[in-house]
Amino acid sequence: MSTAPLRYLHGFGNEFESEALAGALPQGQFSPQRPAYGLYAEKFTNTAFTVARESNRRTWFYRIRPSVSQGAYEPLAHQLLRGAPETGSTGSPNALRWSPPVLDTSSDFIDGLVTLASNGNAALQTGMAVHLFTMDKSMARRCMVNSDGELLLLVQEGTLEIRTECGLLQTEPGELVVIPRGMKFQISPGTASARGFVCENYGHNLRLPERGPVGSDGYANDRDFHTPVAAYVDDDDEFEIVCKYQGRLFRAPVNHNPFDVVAWVGTAVPYKYDLRRFNALGSITYDHPDPSIYTVLSAPSDTPGVANVDIVIFPPRWLVAEGTFRPPWFHRNVMSEFVALLYGQYDAKKVGFEPGGFSLHNSYVPHGPDADVFAAARKAALEPTRLNDTMAFMFETRYVLNPTPWALACPAMQANYRDCWRGLERRFDPRTP
Ligand SMILES: [Fe+2]
Repeated sequence: MSTAPLRYLHGFGNEFESEALAGALPQGQFSPQRPAYGLYAEKFTNTAFTVARESNRRTWFYRIRPSVSQGAYEPLAHQLLRGAPETGSTGSPNALRWSPPVLDTSSDFIDGLVTLASNGNAALQTGMAVHLFTMDKSMARRCMVNSDGELLLLVQEGTLEIRTECGLLQTEPGELVVIPRGMKFQISPGTASARGFVCENYGHNLRLPERGPVGSDGYANDRDFHTPVAAYVDDDDEFEIVCKYQGRLFRAPVNHNPFDVVAWVGTAVPYKYDLRRFNALGSITYDHPDPSIYTVLSAPSDTPGVANVDIVIFPPRWLVAEGTFRPPWFHRNVMSEFVALLYGQYDAKKVGFEPGGFSLHNSYVPHGPDADVFAAARKAALEPTRLNDTMAFMFETRYVLNPTPWALACPAMQANYRDCWRGLERRFDPRTP
């Protein structure tokens, strides 16, 4: 893949269209009797046909061969990739935290996947999973298609080059990428090696949260979501499709390169977003708002206001609240929180939470700033301060996340995590208001 900057289409949820050959995209209809250049028309959906127009997602591909032109799938073993529900995974009422695990990078994206936790049930289209990925090889002559859920990727080290049926994306730390459920893709490291996090969302598609009284701009702005332009490969050499289906992998041979979409039009598309463009809004008077104010994308559940998973970030920002304890407060949350640090330092933790590290605070597990951060924040001069060069994210989900046996046995799990709160001594004195 070329290292030249790629061109993207801008917007979120638009009906995008793109053609790599002039005239390849039918005009005025989707399924002409004879598409141009001898292409096949193929429809791809991410929502049921009858979903309301504003959230309906489907794309028409115009490709060299239709997707039915492939061999039969056979099971493909994978050591550490898990689905949901997963026997052997159990929720924990303890606060859990991991240092960045040491991973064997000598793999491609598929072989380097490790599941950390999951919830819900992929077959019932609810819940999610968190995976780590690491790689030092391209996927060469194979691609992946995930029928279980859409994939949100956050690269933490290195860069990624991603080929999809809609075209090419490049991504670096500080950006997220979303690949639609059911879309074929290939991921290659753009650097010697790369690693990061994946949210596999089994529920409704991720969408932008409403802004309410904030108005028509702010948070993640639609124009900053970038979708690739059509780019096809025309070769008839052997290829392999790896399909994730109901939590397991399968592989099938195909006698051509399946990235053969010459033109496409639709709303079911991959996209990327630069988290550094997030327009963070916060208190300019007092108190610490709920972290939901930093929601970039949200996959709703069937209960209004309760997310299957929210994608939340903690970006560089000013803290100016007056008379206020400024770090994140102590709390117990009905929702379950998986938090990881991409780079820099997280404002509630001074030590023990390194880039590439992650924590899991499941439903009602008490957590909050460590003792040192608490002590410092109680006496800090409340001048405007800026959090610089930091990027953490949270997958916040309505269902308890069950860590996998691998995650619970991982040497990177911090047995002493709770010690960060040990210094929180009794301060109560009924004689001193
Ligand atoms: Fe929390």
